Amino acid sequence: MTETLDIQITKTTQPRLQETDFDNLPFGKTFSDHMLMVDYADGEWKNFQILPYGDISLSPAISALHYGQAFFEGIKAYKHEDGKVVIFRPEKNAERFNRSAERLCMPTIPEDIFVQSIAALVDIDRGWIPTKANHALYIRPFMFATDPYLGVQASTTYKYMVLTGPVGPYFSKPLRVKIESHYTRAAQGGMGFAKAAGNYASSMMPAKKAVEEGFDQIIWTDGSNHEYIEEMGAANAMFILDGKLVTPSTGDTILKGVTRDTVIKLAQAWGIPVEERKVAVAEIIDAAKNGTLTDAFGAGTAATIAPVGSINYNGEEFTLSDPLTREFSQKVLKTLDDIRYGRAEDTYGWNY
Ligand code: COI
Repeated sequence: MTETLDIQITKTTQPRLQETDFDNLPFGKTFSDHMLMVDYADGEWKNFQILPYGDISLSPAISALHYGQAFFEGIKAYKHEDGKVVIFRPEKNAERFNRSAERLCMPTIPEDIFVQSIAALVDIDRGWIPTKANHALYIRPFMFATDPYLGVQASTTYKYMVLTGPVGPYFSKPLRVKIESHYTRAAQGGMGFAKAAGNYASSMMPAKKAVEEGFDQIIWTDGSNHEYIEEMGAANAMFILDGKLVTPSTGDTILKGVTRDTVIKLAQAWGIPVEERKVAVAEIIDAAKNGTLTDAFGAGTAATIAPVGSINYNGEEFTLSDPLTREFSQKVLKTLDDIRYGRAEDTYGWNY
């Protein structure tokens, strides 16, 4: 750790906590009272501020708006029964934040500064952390380019910001997913592994079409022949096949999900064989047909463990078992919740 961060703190004079309805928390619509804002200029991070959540003023020429030099992270904080507040594996998000920054030709942030700045913000708004089951404080760090310049080149100035807000479950029911056989989320040599804003922009039209067809999410497939499974909506795709945990290996096109990594570590600790490899669509469809696909879920910070109810491939629908009867994902969810909400010992050191 470096020395404590010097953050200028301006507290809100109009707190909104008391008027917030914690029984009605659709994902991403409620923001806590404060936000963090940091500038990058002259080759260094400076002007660390925590200030009231609100609008900011920017030039309409900033390159983030024109050329998409922007990316984000997703992290969660939890409150234990004794009032202790923990942030789940933020150092993993710091690693990925910096991988995204490098790919988008943006400056990195030292891990301890990233984690400390988030901890300071969460501490100020600790009253916003919900205590209900399946609820958490969602933390959204992001960075964007601020040079007011229309030439196509990397910006020289940036803002790193963090917002937080209380959230309930992202998905409220098992997902009806469609295996995508036309659109592509990411390509070899591209930026699919980064949490680039543009990756999410390119997913929206196909996702909207899928919703119009009655699906909840898309299972993305490779950009060459759509033969291999990549991700599931905005989460990693994970399967129990023949008693093994099988998930697409990460690389250029797949995000190194923190929840994905957590699930893998738990499976390994429980002696369940883990295969990180190419996962053929045909293999999943065959397994769904012959009953060896006993579990399928999306794993992500927002999604947590989102069970797949049915898979549609080229118009054919395969319904999976009732998610509540699935041994693996139920055990993962319970174990994770017990650690995050402080009901079990954090033997892995995941709670910061
Ligand atoms: C997260 O899990 O934090 C994500 O990135 C998903 C988000 C796009 C809703």
